Amino acid sequence: MFQVVLALLFSAATLQLTVNAGAQQKAAFVRLDRVTASRALANGVEIRSGAAVMQITALRDDVVRVRVGPAGQLPEDASWAVLPSSRTAANVTQESNGSVAGFKTAKLHVAVHKDPFGLAITDNAGHVIAQDLPGRPIEYHGSSFRVYMKSPSEEHYFGLGDKPGPLDRRNMAFTDWNTDAFGWQQSTDPIYKSIPWFITFNKGICAGIYFDNTWRASFDFNKEYRDGYSFGSEAGPLDFYVLYGPEPKTVVESWAWLVGTTPMPPMWGLGYQQSRYSYYPEAEVRRIGDRLRSERIPADVIWLDIDYQYKNWPFTVDPEKFPHFEQMIKDLRAEHLRTVVITDLHIADQPLAKYKPFEEGIAGDHFLKKPDGTIYEGVVWPGRAVFPDFTRKASREWWGTLYADFVKQGVAGFWNDMNEPAIFLVPSKTMPDDTQHRIDEPGFAPRVANHLEIHNVYGMQNSRGTFEGLLKLEPNVRPFVMTRASFAGGHRYAVTWTGDNSATWDHLRQTTPQLLNLGLSGFAMAGADVGGFAGSPQPELLTRWLEVAAFHPIDRDHTAVGTQPQEPWENGTAEDVSLRRRYIEERYRLMPYLYTTAEEMSRTGLPLMRPLFLEFPHGEADGGPLDLSTGNAFMVGSDLLVAQSPYPDQVDDYEVALPPSSWYDYWTGSRIDPTSGRKGIDNAAIAQPEVHIHRTLETLPVFVRAGSIVPVQPLVQSTEEEPEGPLTLRVYPPTTFGAACEGSLYLDDGVSYDFKKGDYLRMQFTCRLSPQGLIVTVAPRHGSFAPWWKLLSIEVYGATKPYGAANITALDHSVGTPVSTSFDAEHHRVTALVADDAKGMQLQLAY
Ligand code: GLC
Repeated sequence: MFQVVLALLFSAATLQLTVNAGAQQKAAFVRLDRVTASRALANGVEIRSGAAVMQITALRDDVVRVRVGPAGQLPEDASWAVLPSSRTAANVTQESNGSVAGFKTAKLHVAVHKDPFGLAITDNAGHVIAQDLPGRPIEYHGSSFRVYMKSPSEEHYFGLGDKPGPLDRRNMAFTDWNTDAFGWQQSTDPIYKSIPWFITFNKGICAGIYFDNTWRASFDFNKEYRDGYSFGSEAGPLDFYVLYGPEPKTVVESWAWLVGTTPMPPMWGLGYQQSRYSYYPEAEVRRIGDRLRSERIPADVIWLDIDYQYKNWPFTVDPEKFPHFEQMIKDLRAEHLRTVVITDLHIADQPLAKYKPFEEGIAGDHFLKKPDGTIYEGVVWPGRAVFPDFTRKASREWWGTLYADFVKQGVAGFWNDMNEPAIFLVPSKTMPDDTQHRIDEPGFAPRVANHLEIHNVYGMQNSRGTFEGLLKLEPNVRPFVMTRASFAGGHRYAVTWTGDNSATWDHLRQTTPQLLNLGLSGFAMAGADVGGFAGSPQPELLTRWLEVAAFHPIDRDHTAVGTQPQEPWENGTAEDVSLRRRYIEERYRLMPYLYTTAEEMSRTGLPLMRPLFLEFPHGEADGGPLDLSTGNAFMVGSDLLVAQSPYPDQVDDYEVALPPSSWYDYWTGSRIDPTSGRKGIDNAAIAQPEVHIHRTLETLPVFVRAGSIVPVQPLVQSTEEEPEGPLTLRVYPPTTFGAACEGSLYLDDGVSYDFKKGDYLRMQFTCRLSPQGLIVTVAPRHGSFAPWWKLLSIEVYGATKPYGAANITALDHSVGTPVSTSFDAEHHRVTALVADDAKGMQLQLAY
């Protein structure tokens, strides 16, 4: 009887009701298998499949949103990730007929085939961007549901945040459930973050799919169905966005439009950072600082892990281990070293200890509760602990105030760890499912949610509280917060790292795909514990890790308690130490380029560390993405290509397939002469040139794209130190006459938001190759920031002999003045030193 009534209620959508008498559970089955009604909306269409409702709307010409409610009502229109400013509506033209309900925008066509149900999104050229898998319409089983999409055999998938494994997600399946995964391995899933966002890449045509659901979700790429992928969740809203490219960069930029970019980091966050679990007492921290300086290892930051605290109670300092904490921070700062301290979210459950975070938290009703109204307690580093209710605005604001003392004492940055949240001594490693979270957030009805809904956003809201609190305390200082757990959009508040990796070669290898997928998912500022966290690295492993990490967005050496010392001067020969120093030095020389790329990231969302296909989406002859086989080469910005060995522990030489362009060797400045005429297994010619790399410890292969101009600076020991000497422009001329050649520079004070008021410096550089020679143009400066240099050293690479004549001309084409140049055969360069009067100039080099 009951079954009949419900079946009527849900009318034409296929519906079954099962009653499991034993467990007293009811589960409805809803399938959106045909359209029973449809109507036009101002910005899309609404369709019904029996009682189920689906709305497909266009936010922009290239962004479509799909929402479904199984019982006639759309889910709550609320999101922790999507920016309020992105809830826009585009103009659409209806494109419906008897069998199809749909619409078009200037860029996309959306068509819902009515019977059987079928959704297809195509671009104006007819490329299919997303299409449901025939025979597998959307299904609900109780509160859980799944969406199935067609997967062409040549389509590849990227994103999903920090999940281990290869760069390409094809033939893999994943779960989103933030997990403290100490010692995770390549096959471990889930780990710390949930970013339900992925990019589809089909012969250079790309799109992104964002599944806006915080519950335990899962993704399957070609495992269940060879020709399909799917995503779904155990509960919560069915709400997803399709972001059209077709270029992968457009998809990444649209993702940033939807959920925001990584904000401009302080420049010191790009410096080398020294950490371990844990440096203590005070004398040890000072010793590390002094040693960094006496060894001349450039560095910006020392990290204090949990042992600086009194009994691991967050927001305390152990007075015995650190009797002069504030003075120590000042003294380190005098050596141009900043301090970042850990501030975990588990507040020690200490009612009798006059422990301010506990007392204030109780007084303000800021802690999470159990269903019976008592405060939830779990065991973590401090022993029994209580946990702030971060989805509540008032509790986040209170949390932010806890940083006031540290900020006053000069602590520069903060580390939010264990925020999956990690709980010890329980099999689930986290809070009970029924822990109560109060939601106070625009878009959401104020309500109490259980932990299953909030778990995956808890870490994000923790780091949000920190970031926003720091901004309140010091509105004109860029916060530096590092978080371990997060959710889509969490990069707005914190940088991240890949958690507790291991000191193994496999983990070194794993850093490339992991950091690349994090960057494609929004977390453009990310690093892995250099040298590995669990265990102690062999000397060569540490050396090679420090070499490649010099090109990662975050370069932080960190290791676990009880492991051997892992600072660059430890655990190796004199040669190891000098190589480690050399690569860190190179990072500091490249700082103008890295900082310029970071500024681009903060504006556009493009990550610092990029897969080759992001820069060269049409690189492979068949339109497939580059470097999927090894996944161990990457771009830094748009011009540098770092090609670590695909298996860094193997002693063999290896080949690097270079994207279609001409390239220079970053270290020698010479033009690369790639071998072409490669043959495939079927003896067909392969268009892509490759270089043969003889593997050595000294040289991590780095290449520079022809037609680029890379700004570099004199060596400093910290980003706080003012470089002495000229700004160098490394010019890598194109190899064909008239071809594009450009570079840029962005600079500001590195710490404040004065750039928003115009106190920045922007410079554009171009070069043009002609039969007569090369002209390098420096455009007039923009912005009011006054840089440190007076001179520009313009270095033109690929030179095999000196130029005949060199002239400097002002941009108004007044008469040129001859300038002397020098030729360096070893580095294949010709250098001219010229004054920089901010007005721009041209350097003309004639053969
Ligand atoms: C966690 C972190 C690790 C840290 C340790 C102690 O394991 O992932 O980086 O050193 O806790 O705080």
